[in-house]
Amino acid sequence: MLHQFCSSASRPEPDPQNPLPPHRVGRIDIHCHLIPGVDDGCKTPEQTCECIRQLQRVGYTGSICTPHIWPDLFPDNDMPRIRQWTAQLQKHLDHVGLDYQLWPGGELRLFDGVIDWLEENEPPTLAGSRFVLLDFWESQWSRWIDDAFDWLIERDYQPILAHPERLGLDDLPRHLDSLQSRGVRLQGNFRCLTGEEGPQAEKWIRQFLAEGRYQLLAMDAHRPDTLASRIAGLEVARQCYDADDIDRKTIDLPRQVILGIDG
Ligand SMILES: [Fe+2]
Repeated sequence: MLHQFCSSASRPEPDPQNPLPPHRVGRIDIHCHLIPGVDDGCKTPEQTCECIRQLQRVGYTGSICTPHIWPDLFPDNDMPRIRQWTAQLQKHLDHVGLDYQLWPGGELRLFDGVIDWLEENEPPTLAGSRFVLLDFWESQWSRWIDDAFDWLIERDYQPILAHPERLGLDDLPRHLDSLQSRGVRLQGNFRCLTGEEGPQAEKWIRQFLAEGRYQLLAMDAHRPDTLASRIAGLEVARQCYDADDIDRKTIDLPRQVILGIDG
């Protein structure tokens, strides 16, 4: 039975007559801002630990840390430093007894000139794979956006476009068709399903889920105060769509395709 929130923006509330389905353990979040103090994500290690405890409750066992890589705003964020920060954070988790695995990565902001940046810097791959998580915020689809994707594809990287449902662009499905035909994968943000990212993002994520466009779904966790709505989006996804498919996109695909873990 579909609940009310399957067709409109509202958060699922616990219903004793109709409990939420059990969560499978072993989810890997491929997109998060949990490294404290390096971008607009967690500010302190305590916030990071609180986020991780919330994630563990819904079956997450690890995250790929993907700080924003955007030279104008966060000039220190590059892969050598992110690897170091991730290792330091992992040590902290181990020290406080949180059984949770981290891998280094990044979320590269595309900008006019990003190819010059890529030619001088290490592309931020996820957990040492060939996958690169990308986002951008443009009001129009410019030629340089396609050029940046093509630059990566020609060099055997595998781009993943983060939260395309949040792009306020005309003719979005046509542009996504073009990217997907070139092998670009799409990653949706659970929070968009709650309506808290606006009605347009909710409309797009519901359409794209129904069309089977996403290969991956993620929390894009920032701080504890917004994580509840992101987790609510996971609940909506599992109740309104094929729960096994949602689990595949948060467990099996991240593990097998990105991390190369069998089983
Ligand atoms: Fe992000």
